[in-house]
Amino acid sequence: MKYLAIFLTIIGVFLTAQWATSGDDEKSWTGTPQEAFLKSEIVQSYQCTSCHTIGERGGTVGPILNYIGTRRDEAWLREWLADPQLVKPGTKMPNFDLPPAHLDEAVKHLTSMKKPLRTDEILGSDIPLVEKGERLFEDYGCIGCHRLGSQGRFVGPDLTWIGTRKTEDWEQTWLKDPQAFKPGTFMPNFHIPAKGVEAIAAFLHTQQGQHNKESQEWEFRTNFFLGNIDKERGEHVFKRYGCWSCHGESGGGGVRNPNMAPDEMMPGLKKVGNDYTEEQFVMRLQKKVVPEILNSAETAPPFFCPDYGKHMEASELSDLYAYLKSFAPKKNKWRFK
Ligand code: HEC
Ligand code: HEC
Ligand code: HEC
Repeated sequence: MKYLAIFLTIIGVFLTAQWATSGDDEKSWTGTPQEAFLKSEIVQSYQCTSCHTIGERGGTVGPILNYIGTRRDEAWLREWLADPQLVKPGTKMPNFDLPPAHLDEAVKHLTSMKKPLRTDEILGSDIPLVEKGERLFEDYGCIGCHRLGSQGRFVGPDLTWIGTRKTEDWEQTWLKDPQAFKPGTFMPNFHIPAKGVEAIAAFLHTQQGQHNKESQEWEFRTNFFLGNIDKERGEHVFKRYGCWSCHGESGGGGVRNPNMAPDEMMPGLKKVGNDYTEEQFVMRLQKKVVPEILNSAETAPPFFCPDYGKHMEASELSDLYAYLKSFAPKKNKWRFK
């Protein structure tokens, strides 16, 4: 039964598959640990590439795995492969129930897939801070999980608009130690030195939608089966503008905003389709809303709801509303007793 379930998940993912390149296709993978893993019994039998890019190509459902050994250690990888649901409840990665020999082999391959980081060289070079940040962003392989313009994956929030929704200060807090800010987050701690954190935060802050068009095109290209349906387009708008970084995956809520009244939790958006008419919703998004402070003696909450009126097209606002409406609880019109 279990194998059938895994098989069906993979077929399902395959059918809605989005295939894309790893972003460094000019590189030759011949003779590398990545190629060895691709040819191994693990990838051959469990079809990891239906969801993951390894070497040049692969699925886009999960993170790009090329330099996984640079960001995850052996103990973490073992735990993850033994039972992904335990590490991240609700993940789309199946539990393969790997026999011990396969688990060992997989961990061995994954830990060997790494590269030397160029942090010192980049920080020591004679280029502007923002450019250092951009090079570090590439070097650490952040696009393995995040999208920026036409590159990357959907595992973390799309960073194309990050500079409009988060402050540079907060970026620094986050990059220093994601787990400290949000225990249990899937984002790894890269142990980036302070100067590097400063540079990456400065680079991220310049990302204010200038690559939106590329991000949109990429989205379109990689979703072969995307119907021309308003709520499906709306889901992409929701992801591209990073609403989920504050309102939770699929608007489920549960994201903390320290010192925000009344309970430090940002609202979920499950009921917005009922609580707001489309017109009210559009007006709500066309202004910046700074939340109330819980304790005025302490630092103000780091997160606010950005003004999207400056950035979003009318059609995007309307698609977004259709998406939120699609999961608003249906009101009971008929009651039978
Ligand atoms: C059905 C899709 C799917 C398949 C098949 C799959 N994975 Fe994953 N995997 C994911 C997703 C999705 C994530 C990211 C976690 C999340 O967002 O829920 C992930 C995460 C990972 C990670 C952690 C990546 C990181 O950057 O931290 C590793 C390692 C991994 N998978 C290895 C494998 C291996 C090895 C196989 C084959 C034995 C495999 N996966 C098969 C979907 C899949
Ligand atoms: C293994 C996947 C993964 C990798 C690799 C990764 N991140 Fe993340 N990142 C996430 C996830 C998941 C979140 C969402 C945090 C949460 O809600 O738990 C996130 C959140 C963020 C955020 C906040 C996003 C927002 O919309 O407010 C920023 C900024 C960020 N990451 C930057 C980076 C940078 C810079 C790198 C490279 C040094 C990086 N990430 C590498 C998974 C990843
Ligand atoms: C950086 C964090 C952040 C991002 C990103 C963000 N929001 Fe918000 N949002 C908030 C906060 C904080 C509030 C609560 C403000 C208040 O009313 O005090 C809020 C409130 C809202 C509300 C009112 C909810 C209610 O229960 O009345 C709606 C609707 C909303 N946001 C929609 C969105 C949409 C759609 C997006 C993406 C286009 C988005 N937000 C992106 C932080 C964010």
